[in-house]
Amino acid sequence: MWKLSWKSLTVCAVCLFGSLALSEPRKVIIDTDPGTDDAMAIMLALNSPEFDVRALTVVPGNVTAAQGLDNALRMVSLANRCDIAVAAGAQHPLFQKLITAEFWHGKNGLANIELPPSKCKVDPRWAPDLIVQMVHENPHEITLVPVGPLTNIALAVEKDPSIVPLVKEVVIMGGSISGGNVNASAEANIYNDPEAAQIVFQAGWPLTMVGLDVGDKTLLTRKHIEALKRNPGPISDFIYKVADFLIALSEKFGDSGTPMYDPLAVGVAIDPTLVKAPAMHVDVETRGEFTRGETVANRRGAIERNVLHHFPDGDRYVIEGLDKVDANVKVCTDVNAERFLQMFVSRIQGK
Ligand code: BDR
Ligand code: CA
Repeated sequence: MWKLSWKSLTVCAVCLFGSLALSEPRKVIIDTDPGTDDAMAIMLALNSPEFDVRALTVVPGNVTAAQGLDNALRMVSLANRCDIAVAAGAQHPLFQKLITAEFWHGKNGLANIELPPSKCKVDPRWAPDLIVQMVHENPHEITLVPVGPLTNIALAVEKDPSIVPLVKEVVIMGGSISGGNVNASAEANIYNDPEAAQIVFQAGWPLTMVGLDVGDKTLLTRKHIEALKRNPGPISDFIYKVADFLIALSEKFGDSGTPMYDPLAVGVAIDPTLVKAPAMHVDVETRGEFTRGETVANRRGAIERNVLHHFPDGDRYVIEGLDKVDANVKVCTDVNAERFLQMFVSRIQGK
């Protein structure tokens, strides 16, 4: 018979399950405009042992602020998680009119699925205030996962910039360095509030951008969701219906699956090894005629230094060298899509 000491048991546990599973769940705030893929992201987060979801803060985007709040409350109720704070925030983007996306997400933003009225109550705090307060109460512990326009996060930073060094990390769904989905250049979350996005991108915190570049590679297909049907339950039934709606929509446009934009941001926050994410300097274009809302990435880490010279035949700029630009964002450029999709489906089933 083996005699095992506590020490050897601990060592064994570490080698079997890895340090990740043994560590405390990370405190997370999801800022969301729910939203079909937001719904999938939220349920993935709630079913992930690595996360202690403390709050859903609601931002207008896919739907109005009021509809988004109602959707968020119904979802935490469905999951029996009234302990999670659900707070209303901004009512519109910082400097432009709201653009809503019922066209893609259904009339109520949740694939026209009528969830039961919520047993949970709205938190009285304004979302940016709640973010500021939670960050101060949990210094260096909060991971922010914004999966909608960045209005609430920018308002929190503007109100209290001292939160920036106190946030553990920010993993956003938004942007693209290879073309947009709203138009040729811009991705929807950034396009819907470019000034807010620029504030968030330049704030100076550890930021990961999970954009269209990787979201478009993670297509959830009918084959993937079959397993949800075989394992019924309130969450897997709901997510099956959401996914079915989204896959049918994709099929109308000739695709076999639906891109998992928001859930992938949660996936990357859980397990960064799912993606390749080189560091780059990214700015958000706020003025371009064709490019407002584009995330403009400098992949070389440098810009040319052009200096004005006065010559007898006229003035001109002369390139005198290169100036270094510091990276501010880890940009996801590639993803192990199948590993992520398997993780999503199994966790939604509660496995
Ligand atoms: C993003 O826009 C929204 O429609 C989705 O919820 C996602 O956050 C994709 O561009
Ligand atoms: Ca979203």
